[in-house]
Amino acid sequence: MRVTATVNGETHQIDDVWEGESLMYALRERMGLPGSKNACEQGECGSCTVYLDGVPVCSCLVAAGQAHERDIVTVEGLSDTGELHPVQQAYLEQGAVQCGFCTPGLLVATHDLLSRNPHPSDPQIREALAGNLCRCTGYEKILDAVRAAADRMDGGPA
Ligand code: FES
Ligand code: FES
Repeated sequence: MRVTATVNGETHQIDDVWEGESLMYALRERMGLPGSKNACEQGECGSCTVYLDGVPVCSCLVAAGQAHERDIVTVEGLSDTGELHPVQQAYLEQGAVQCGFCTPGLLVATHDLLSRNPHPSDPQIREALAGNLCRCTGYEKILDAVRAAADRMDGGPA
């Protein structure tokens, strides 16, 4: 099967896609976009989160064939300016990244949260990030990063 999709604003075409091939595999291994991480491959951890037609999904649970003629944004595409997106900058500055395996999914989930709700409460942050598991940070730094990103983006780009 041939799959053509828009990824981070560019058209990508891949051939010989197997029915069981995941979108995560296609992005990482065939399209040169290794940002989305494979940490469980079972839809449990959120490390592989990408936008599919504007909706965050676990790319390990989406068949690559389902992405045909659809629009995907990965962590690599959150910023198109060549600079880090304010969410990425906030995670860096708050020390919310340790091994980094969870980080791409958390960045996409945080970006999605703040685009829907620019001033989330702590319970709203916890709920929005509940599907993203981190084995390292204890989550406090991640919460700090989301608060800092909200401050940075106040009136700025979502
Ligand atoms: S790798 Fe997809 S949810 Fe964990
Ligand atoms: S920083 Fe290691 S899993 Fe989150």
